[in-house]
Formats: sequence, structure tokens, C-alpha cells
Amino acid sequence: MSYYKIDNLEQYFKHYNKSVREPRKFWGKIAQENFTWYQQWDKVVEFDMIEADIKWFTEAKVNIVKNCIDRHLAKRGEKTAIIFEPNDPSEQSLHITYNELHEKVCKMANILRDQGIKKGDRVCIYLPMIPELAIATLACARIGAIHSVVFAGFSASAVASRINDSECKMVITSDGGYRGNKTIDLKSIVDEALDKCTCVENVLVVKRINSEIYMKEGRDQWLQPLLDAASDNNVAEIMDAEDPLFILYTSGSTGKPKGMVHTTAGYMVYTAYTFKNVFSYEENDIFWCTADIGWITGHSYILYGPLLNGATTVIFEGVPSYPDFSRFWEIIEKHKVTQFYTAPTAIRALAKENIEYVQKHPLSSLKVIGSVGEPINEEAWHWYNDHVGGKRCPLVDTWWQTETGGILISPLAFVTPTKPTYASLPLPGIQAVLMDEKRNEIEANQTIGSLCIKFPWPGIARTIWGDHQRYKDTYFSTFPGKYFTGDGALRDEVGYYRITGRVDDVVIVSGHNLGTAPIEDSINEHPAVAESAIVGFPHDIKGNALYGFVTLKETGEYRVRENLIKEINQLISDHIGPIAKLDKIQFVSSLPKTRSGKIMRRILRKIAEGDFDSFGDTSTLINPEIIDEIKDNKV
Ligand code: WT7
Repeated sequence: MSYYKIDNLEQYFKHYNKSVREPRKFWGKIAQENFTWYQQWDKVVEFDMIEADIKWFTEAKVNIVKNCIDRHLAKRGEKTAIIFEPNDPSEQSLHITYNELHEKVCKMANILRDQGIKKGDRVCIYLPMIPELAIATLACARIGAIHSVVFAGFSASAVASRINDSECKMVITSDGGYRGNKTIDLKSIVDEALDKCTCVENVLVVKRINSEIYMKEGRDQWLQPLLDAASDNNVAEIMDAEDPLFILYTSGSTGKPKGMVHTTAGYMVYTAYTFKNVFSYEENDIFWCTADIGWITGHSYILYGPLLNGATTVIFEGVPSYPDFSRFWEIIEKHKVTQFYTAPTAIRALAKENIEYVQKHPLSSLKVIGSVGEPINEEAWHWYNDHVGGKRCPLVDTWWQTETGGILISPLAFVTPTKPTYASLPLPGIQAVLMDEKRNEIEANQTIGSLCIKFPWPGIARTIWGDHQRYKDTYFSTFPGKYFTGDGALRDEVGYYRITGRVDDVVIVSGHNLGTAPIEDSINEHPAVAESAIVGFPHDIKGNALYGFVTLKETGEYRVRENLIKEINQLISDHIGPIAKLDKIQFVSSLPKTRSGKIMRRILRKIAEGDFDSFGDTSTLINPEIIDEIKDNKV
């Protein structure tokens, strides 16, 4: 019997129980039967959850890129590995076969070695969503260099701090990138960043927009001539299971970004397994995840998960709004996408637009639709389910984090019945628990607790680059012996989890635990409301009261503000109870958002508290200018 694919709910429970009773047998069998290894492991897992010391498949030798590409060549050499859809729909899309990908990655790997990059060296990749981004990332992994992909929307100072933190020896970038009707000058951002870095010896530059750029003598080289001269004969590095595969920075709620370190074998096994099951992947499916490879979602579900399964994965360079709001739907139709995976923020933005954008494209190729990144509110869930999924595609609301490497709680398409706003059940191997303030496990249902995982899984990050103590403190000290996610959740009577938001987004009002996400859900149902964010602020009698920041739909009919406030509070009262009514409501033109689309509640909390002294690190905000507007109009 194989554990790699779950076919029905009964089997899910069987596999889940096996994974808890005999995790070593469970993961050992999956690892053995679905990957190629140079050498077997000694132990499947060894761990100390107090010291935050976790190792999977110790002593095993493997190369993840051999598993992503080489081993598929005999059977799938001429199959498309990557479909590249450019920003501009009038530019030809590109189909890169597994054979071609192999050749390109081998050439790139040889160039990296020629430039002095060795196993264990760090390489910063700062590229737009073009095939070279995938190729450079895989080339690093092939030779055992640790890739640190930095999202190409980050500023020079954010790039510099990431390069310096992990002392990258090389940067791979491009002359620029296209994004909607704009171009971004990536190279000049790198130049500015490198003024503050002494560790970088070489910069390789991909030509994408043919702009005139500065090339620093002795440091910068165009990639193309090197590729033209490179051999495609490359022997992959033999890696230890626990050798670092990559570093990916995630912004902590405060302080400097954390360089999460993922290692080779466990990450490989976990991303492949979760991709296969959550999306119910089958041969010849066309998988499209709209994230950027600069985020963990792109690492795990554009690159590694799909390629490990020999899938066809779409890389989209552009944005959902260019040339118009039908771009996503047009791409699904054009490439006959079978699995579509995007974020609630994109769904809400598209749901605001004319429904004809969606309706004019037949989306009948779709089998599964997915959501990731934040709790998906009920209204967005239904819009996505009805208009994109046509009420026939399972909607998988996948909960996970940069730190978890892969999806931890999610429906499995065609296996787990879905329930709006519920991420539903933990995947096999994921021992989820809810903890109360006294650090006891919560047995009851419908109570919000801190979501923890009490046993390691193969995809968990192993440390923070250069700061194991911070790793231990952040994730393993609040609830000793358990991985603390920082999220709150509640569990329903059948064991489904609903993620209620960051635990710091739970506000205790008059002794009642109130998750802000469900309140936002109620508000967002108001036809005039586009988006909302609720935070707590100190209140003499209640302890805390609620402050709502609300954006209105442009097309929304005019209403008297006082009436609107009454109607919003009535909705909350109806859905949650009068206790959850807002003390203050402020209408704003937009909410402060990070580049990954998350509302930066930390800032809103400060404004609501009337603390305007310091807003901490705002470098990841896409719209920092909004802070002043919100501050000046505080109610
Ligand atoms: C945080 C992790 C993992 C991919 C992208 C985000 C929130 C993520 C969901 C979901 C509710 C979600 C959590 C989590 N989150 N997915 N399906 N439902 N919340 O990665 O930037 O590391 O953020 O995103 O709060 O802790 P990330």
C-alpha cells in the first residue's frame, strides 16, 4: 500500500492515524517510494522541540533538482515543465520542456561554478517572474548553493539588508522587469543596494527590457554571452538531507526580517506530497499558482512541488489588472489551466469589478481552485466558488506559513468536504492543537486558541539564518515543546479548523475573545464596503474596544456616513452579537498593505491607540503614504 496519494475521506483518516502512530514508517515509506536518493537515511526523524533542533532523513544523500528534472527525462522529456505567460498578452507565451529545462539549468549551474560559487555559498536572486528566475533558483540548488530569492518589489535597502544578513557572494538580476503598464529598474535598485554591501563579488544580469543600464567593470556581467559559451553537461552536487536548500526572508511583526532556513530532503518530500494531495494533481494537469517565486508560495507551489511531481507549471509575469481585469480568466482559458491557486486579496479586488470580465471566459478546464495567504472571508469565498469554480470545483483554503515550508491545514480536493472560511483538516503528519492562555490544550470546540503543532513535519524550517536563539524564542518558547504558529484558530464539532487571524488580532472585549476576521467578514458583506480591518484599542471599562478601518467600493451607492455606521454595526450584531460592535469606524481610502498583500495591522493598532510616535519598520509597505492620511483623520 502506498501512502503518497489519498483517494477518499476514509483513507485520509487512515493515513492520518498512521502518520501520528508511526510517523517514521509513514514518512519513510513516502520518501522511499517517490524520490531518488544517492544514499538512504539512517533515521527518518530526530528532534528536540525544546531546543528547536529538528532533523529529517539523517545521513541521506540527495539532490532535489535531480528529483525535479533529471529523473523525469526518460518518461517526460518532451513534456512541458514550464509555461511562461508574459506581462503583455501580445508577446508569445513560452513552453519549456523538461529536456529544455534540464539543459538550461545545467548551463546556468556551470556558469555559477565558473564564477566561483560553491556548495554552501549564498546567492541572492532578484528577478522578475521570468523563466530565468526558475532556472537560476534551480541551478543554485543543483550545485548546492543556498538561494535567497528576494521579491523584485523590495526596495534597495530591503535588498541590502537581506544580502548582508546572509552574506551573499553573488546577485542574479535583470536590466528590469515589466509589471502591467510599468517597467521596474531592477538593476539600479541592485546598484543602490550594493553600495551598502561588501560581500557581493559578482552580479549576473539577464536582459529582459533592453534598457540602458550601468554595468560595473569587474563586477557585472550579462548572462546571455555566458550561457552561449556554457556546456550543458553538469554533474549535480550530492547533498546531505539537512544541508540548507534556501533562505527566505519573512517580515516579523517587529524587528529585522527573519531568514528562514529550509533544508533539502524534508522540504522536498513535504512539498511534493502536499502538492499532490491538496490539489489532487494528476498527470497532464496544468497547474497555475499566481504567487511570485519571491514568496514561499512560489517556491513550494510554482517550482518545487509541481516539478517534483513532473507537472506543468505556469509562470505569469504580469498582474491581474493588465491590460484589463480579465487577465487571469483569459490565461486560464488560454492554457487550459486545471488547478488555479491565488490569494483572497486578489479575489476581493477582482470581485469588485464587472462580473462580465469573468463570464466572457469559459473556465471549464478548471478542476480545483485554491486560496492562500490570509483568512478568506465568506463573501470572497462564495464569489470565488460560484464564479470561478462554477460551484463544481473544490475550493481548497490552504493554511500555512513561510516557516512551515508547505501546506499544513487544508481540504484535500475531492477528498475533504469544504466549508466556507474553514481551512478544515490538518494534513497527515500535522498534529495540530489549540492552546489556552494558561498553556493548556483546549479540548472544547468553538473556542479560540493559539494554534500549535506538537510534532515535527518534514517541511518545517530548521532555523533562522545566523540566529538560532531567535528561532527558538519566536516559535518554541511560548508553548514549550510545541511549534507556535502565531495564529489563532477555532475548531468546530467535526474537527475542522477555522483560522481566525494572528493571535495578536484577537481582541478581548469585556472578557470576550473576539477574532477580528469574523467581524471583518460581517462588515464586508455590506454592499458598500470593499475591505475592512479591525483592531483593538484600550478602553476604560471594557478593557479593549474595537476600531474599524473601512474602505468603500468606488461603485458603491452614496450613503450618509451615520447610516452606514449604523448598518455596519447592525451586521456585526446580527452575525456575532452586540458585544462585537465597533466603538469607532473610520473610512479610509486604502489600508496599509505589505507587498504580499497583507494588511499591516500593527500600524492600525498604533493609530487606534493614538500612539503616533513610531510605526517601526514600514519598508515592506506598498503604500506607506497612507499612514499619514489615516493618522490625520483618526476618529
Ligand atoms: C501567515 C503566514 C503560506 C503562504 C503565504 C503566506 C496567514 C496564510 C492562510 C489561510 C488564514 C492564512 C496566517 C499565517 N495565512 N494562509 N489559508 N487562512 N490565514 O505566508 O507570509 O509566511 O504568512 O499568513 O496568518 O500565519 P506568510
